[in-house]
Amino acid sequence: MRFRAKSSNLALYLPPSHVKSISVFAPATVANVACGFDIFGFAVDNPGDKITLTLTDEPGVRITDIIGDDGRLPREAHRNTASIAIQSFLKHIGQPDLGVDVILYKQMPLGSGLGSSAASAVAGVFAINELMERPLTTRELIPFAMEGERIACGSAHADNVGPSLLGGFVVVRSYQPLDVIRIQTPATLFCTLVHPDIEVNTKDARFILKNEVSLKNTITQMGNVAGLIAGLMTPDYDLISRSLVDVIIEPVRSILIPEFAEAKQAALQNGALGCSISGSGPSMFALCRDQETASRVGEAMQQAFLNAGIMSEAYVSEINQQGPKVID
Ligand code: HSE
Repeated sequence: MRFRAKSSNLALYLPPSHVKSISVFAPATVANVACGFDIFGFAVDNPGDKITLTLTDEPGVRITDIIGDDGRLPREAHRNTASIAIQSFLKHIGQPDLGVDVILYKQMPLGSGLGSSAASAVAGVFAINELMERPLTTRELIPFAMEGERIACGSAHADNVGPSLLGGFVVVRSYQPLDVIRIQTPATLFCTLVHPDIEVNTKDARFILKNEVSLKNTITQMGNVAGLIAGLMTPDYDLISRSLVDVIIEPVRSILIPEFAEAKQAALQNGALGCSISGSGPSMFALCRDQETASRVGEAMQQAFLNAGIMSEAYVSEINQQGPKVID
């Protein structure tokens, strides 16, 4: 099956005749990273989402199955974050009617603050770009994955899709125009993620934020933003630790997470460099100097939730440097 693009410039973007199906894994992400609301994010090795795309003769993108969401995600292509990202990519390359069947394997909790919708959108857009023999670079895929975010939570932020696509730690310096920078992180930096068994809707978590920020808090936050980047790039663990402070978003959103203060205190007492909300929560992340500390921190945070009768899942991971990968 071969398709010819309508625009003559895009006529070379034909799917290879021998490849009809592909499966891709895209990693979860920690957005905000304490002080960098909507501008910082990094990828982790696990969890993540998997997608399988198959080219078909029937025009249009279809969600044929979603596994692992307990029937909660929309199956309509125009409402699902992965298919929206694929559709906007296909429109851009002049193949809006290409037939694509999508199976999405949700391998992380919904509404968790782990970048679940971003991982699905990234897996989708990365997979279709591979099937079409890479008409765009990975970096050029970011705006299409952002369209998936717009549908999922009403805001086309890039601090989850950026690191999920590029891997590593990402700074969104500007949204207009989009300017995404990937920065070095220390080789031995480990992340602990703890997902308490509660759900926070990103739309709600954005709605409760204040529109006005005091000059004093802005200055403190800017100092921490600059300090965190300098600390990661040097690397300087003490500077990273001093900079993992959020005086603007965390005080507002932490009220949505029962036992937030106890879990954070447990992380810091057990050697974490810093600890805050992952994305819009309820997951919390901690950065640690080594794997042993990261595991201990995870256990202590889980115990803090358990003390209040809240079950949780913990993940320990290096910073994922690869981003999405083809798995079949
Ligand atoms: N920066 C976004 C927010 C990430 O905090 O609302 C959502 O995952």
